[in-house]
Amino acid sequence: MLAENTLVKEAYAALENAILYYRGQPVGTVAARDPEAAALNYDQCFVRDFVSSGLFFLMQGKPEIVRNFLMEVLRLQSREPQLECFQPGQGLFPASFKVVEREGEEYLTADFGEQAIAQVAPIDSCFWWLILLRAYVKATGDLKLAHRPDFQHGIHLILQLCLEARFDMFPTLLVPDGSFMIDRRMGVYGYPLEIQALFYAALRAARELLLPSGFGSTYLQAIETRLSHLTYHVRKYYWLDLKRLNEIYRYKGDEFGALAVNRFNVYSDTIPPWSIEWLMGKGGYLAGNLGPGQIDFRFFGLGNLMAIIASLATASQAQAIMALLEQRWQELVGYMPMKICFPAVEGQDWRTITGSDPKNIPWSYHNGGNWPVLLWLLTAAALKTGKVELAHRALAIAEQRLLDDQWPEYYDDRNGRLIGKEARKYQTWTIAAFLVTKALLANPEYIALISFDEESFNEESNATACSV
Ligand code: GLC
Repeated sequence: MLAENTLVKEAYAALENAILYYRGQPVGTVAARDPEAAALNYDQCFVRDFVSSGLFFLMQGKPEIVRNFLMEVLRLQSREPQLECFQPGQGLFPASFKVVEREGEEYLTADFGEQAIAQVAPIDSCFWWLILLRAYVKATGDLKLAHRPDFQHGIHLILQLCLEARFDMFPTLLVPDGSFMIDRRMGVYGYPLEIQALFYAALRAARELLLPSGFGSTYLQAIETRLSHLTYHVRKYYWLDLKRLNEIYRYKGDEFGALAVNRFNVYSDTIPPWSIEWLMGKGGYLAGNLGPGQIDFRFFGLGNLMAIIASLATASQAQAIMALLEQRWQELVGYMPMKICFPAVEGQDWRTITGSDPKNIPWSYHNGGNWPVLLWLLTAAALKTGKVELAHRALAIAEQRLLDDQWPEYYDDRNGRLIGKEARKYQTWTIAAFLVTKALLANPEYIALISFDEESFNEESNATACSV
């Protein structure tokens, strides 16, 4: 008990130390405070990283920092229509921001990816912002904030960006490589599951927060339609279990027109042999990506957990994902919860898919590393599916190491035995995820801040719409 308290106290102190102040007000948390590594951009507040801290602050009854964060990030949203390619598109949210001082005055500067390694676009930021805004409203009852004209306008711009301009005609969102937590080249361009799960949760949050006046009513209608098509599409076409694998295995290629069974023209030869061995019994999961001629069979942690939490997965799919997690515990959780993706790409695949990225070598970092931040998502998914014992098991594993290892960003090796080769220490979302997990297990009702109830959609109208 004493040791446990020490752990919580240490985590709490480390989180407090990570708070970023702007003009005397707390506005976020820095990504990491590793005394032994160069800061690079880890001294900035990342929008996606702050969600873990923000949830904990809300659970602690400390909403001010979350409110400040939501307002400041909204001010940084790109507001003007842009024809200039080097400017962020209208509606985009930054990946991160920092406080700079000029002539004795503090300012916030935003990075929309232009300063990040490889200049990747942070598509997930606007979704996380919406998800956190809804959590803030749920925790405080302060719906007025979300109803303010600047907030409504910000939400309209996000929806405009996601719903209006597009190159394709799928309900899923088309994005470039590395546009979310995995922010390096990893073959996650096109229609990656993580983006679709966050997009879905963000649409549901927007539906709760939008006022029906003016453009609001048009967007509310558009959200309704998009949610139903997106749900059908992901549940049906991303789903993988033994039965579905068998269907894909017997697919005919080059079918033409609306009645094609193999709608995306996936050739059965693309089924990787490991997946046939890997799937068993009741286990199943949502594929990493789905596009023309392509299913990415890799298992991605955040996308699958978020699909459970937001009810993008059906209740029975959610049970099957948790069953898989239990069956494949050593591979997906191992010595640190949990894998960002499984399996790693190796050999020639690693060269082709990552561009021979030395940071993403097999079983390291984004390429099959274990990320403690995923612990709170695992816990929320476990609570949602009634599998709370899995969350306790995962937490017990994390608790044995996190403090001694100084809260690393990620772990390496097939089973997460080693501290990540280039992992930062005192990584804030690692610390916050531990605290959120403790809080969720002590007060399971907190799950309402982040989860959405299952909705039923009219399958038939979707099937027709998708085949037009
Ligand atoms: C790395 C991670 C990214 C995270 C950032 C700050 O770039 O890939 O997901 O947001 O570090 O922690």
